[in-house]
Amino acid sequence: MVELLPSILSADFARLADEVAAAERGGGTVIHVDVMDGHFVPNITLGPPVVKSLRKATNLPLDCHLMIENANEYIPAFADAGANWIGVHYEACPHLHRTIELILNHGLKPGVVINPATRVEVLLEILPMLHHVLVMSVNPGFGGQKFIDFSLNKIRRLAEIREELGLRFRIEVDGGVAHDTIAQVVQAGAELLVAGNAVFGSGKAEQNARELLAAAKA
Ligand code: DX5
Ligand code: ZN
Repeated sequence: MVELLPSILSADFARLADEVAAAERGGGTVIHVDVMDGHFVPNITLGPPVVKSLRKATNLPLDCHLMIENANEYIPAFADAGANWIGVHYEACPHLHRTIELILNHGLKPGVVINPATRVEVLLEILPMLHHVLVMSVNPGFGGQKFIDFSLNKIRRLAEIREELGLRFRIEVDGGVAHDTIAQVVQAGAELLVAGNAVFGSGKAEQNARELLAAAKA
């Protein structure tokens, strides 16, 4: 089932509760929360206190995309704050199996995120443990970037591997997902569609979300 995950990175942070409510009215079903540390990626965003406030503002699941080093140190705090899904970067987690176990031990749904230049095959062993795999279709760090076309091949490849191995992880895509790209990512096999700028960029989150979902299902 195709779902829209509004990314609050492009929302008005002073009006987060209203922005999230508007995106939910437009059909968003999971809220995507971008956590950046200024080390793994060249930008800084937010941490557990904001997740805690978001938790009070919505009943939707919170998908925390951790673009941080030393993720293991912070996973307990995100769990306490009310995160539901936690995605960690393959490139930032040298002991990925341990990190996924830590997420599972906190009762959360684990995902692994891969950068554009990382091939999907590096995940083969860990795939059976995952709730989702997130294919970055831009280099992480900023909203509003252009979709990298070869990401479509990676989504197709992941869908093939899932079929071959009889697994159930969900395929998520993040970066440059907008009206002109959303149908292609769905055709390639993605079902969790993160969109930041295309939802919140112009201040009409409800309408934007509704139109994006319509384009995804077209
Ligand atoms: C980028 C983030 C994305 C970002 C996507 O590092 O992971 O979630 O919000 O923004 P758009 O949809 O504007 O490309
Ligand atoms: Zn993200």
